Amino acid sequence: MKKILVTGGLGFIGSHTVVELQNTGFDVIIIDNLSNSKMEVLDNIEQITSKKAAFFNIDLRNKKEVKHFFNTNTIDGIIHFAASKAVGESVEKPLDYYENNIGTLVYILQEMRDHKIDHFIFSSSCTVYGQAAELPITEKSPVKPAISPYGNTKQIGEEIIRDTCKVHNMNAIALRYFNPIGAHDSIKIGELPLGVPQNLIPYITQTAAGIREQLSVFGNDYDTPDGTAIRDYIHVVDLAKAHTAALQRLLSNENKEKFEYFNVGTGKGSSVLEIINAFEHANNLKLNYKITTRREGDVTAAYADTNKVANELNWKTEKTLEEALKSAWEWQKSLI
Ligand code: WQD
Repeated sequence: MKKILVTGGLGFIGSHTVVELQNTGFDVIIIDNLSNSKMEVLDNIEQITSKKAAFFNIDLRNKKEVKHFFNTNTIDGIIHFAASKAVGESVEKPLDYYENNIGTLVYILQEMRDHKIDHFIFSSSCTVYGQAAELPITEKSPVKPAISPYGNTKQIGEEIIRDTCKVHNMNAIALRYFNPIGAHDSIKIGELPLGVPQNLIPYITQTAAGIREQLSVFGNDYDTPDGTAIRDYIHVVDLAKAHTAALQRLLSNENKEKFEYFNVGTGKGSSVLEIINAFEHANNLKLNYKITTRREGDVTAAYADTNKVANELNWKTEKTLEEALKSAWEWQKSLI
């Protein structure tokens, strides 16, 4: 049974990917420093899959601990989620972001080189495109100068991996996520934002739950049909399955280049107001919101061209936006 290390495996996308990996027959080891997740997620995963992943509470910034882990564990492949991911926070604390997102990536890649681990999946983001000139966004769309240190760490991360794959016997795939939302069908795992949510869906569900007074819609003067910004909201379970598809591509040596990257989205754009309406309709409730000014750094519209991921990874989304918004609300209610 292939042993797969999932860093950040107790996080939102990480935990859903661990479930899919275990359901696909992989033996999973999780490293997480619990800076943006909770220990109980490990038991919740086991309740879903009846398999307990091995867990190591390691901060990947601790090079000694990382080295010791790889000296004492045999790994066949790595899916690397562990990173800081708040765009706004990254502007305030750039050095924390470069240390945590880039420094730790280098340590992981050094251990892969030394231990001849040659299958690597990297958590990247559509943020690398900035405001793409053409929509939907294909992998040929140019990577633009990042507008946040967070986005820059994803761009730099991909370049580090590309350079490493050139000279070491390593094969890697970067998955450029659009906007992951929702929760597992079991409602045992979901998004656990610590503090005030930065992202739209957790802010919506916390507003509906009365935890937040009112949702602010950041701008309705964009050049879009209803004036609010457009994104590609993908169910987190579909996104998790894209990771197992990418891993299997590498393990069966089907990758065409040593470093590949794929846009992972639904291919459909939804505006903020469309999301609000869909959430209200799916969950039969009214949401308290107001229109405010734009948020610094937001792009007008971003949604994926899914041809490459469909043709090469033989993957496509199976879940609907409505299912994602329903599961997000069910998950929020389970937390109360
Ligand atoms: C979506 C839309 C906001 C909150 C970021 C990162 C991306 C990934 C996902 C990590 C935008 C609007 C939001 C609110 C609002 N992160 N909004 N009121 O900015 O598209 O992507 O998060 O992997 O890399 O860039 O997601 O959910 O923050 O915003 O009106 O309270 O909702 O303006 O149009 P975003 P988001």
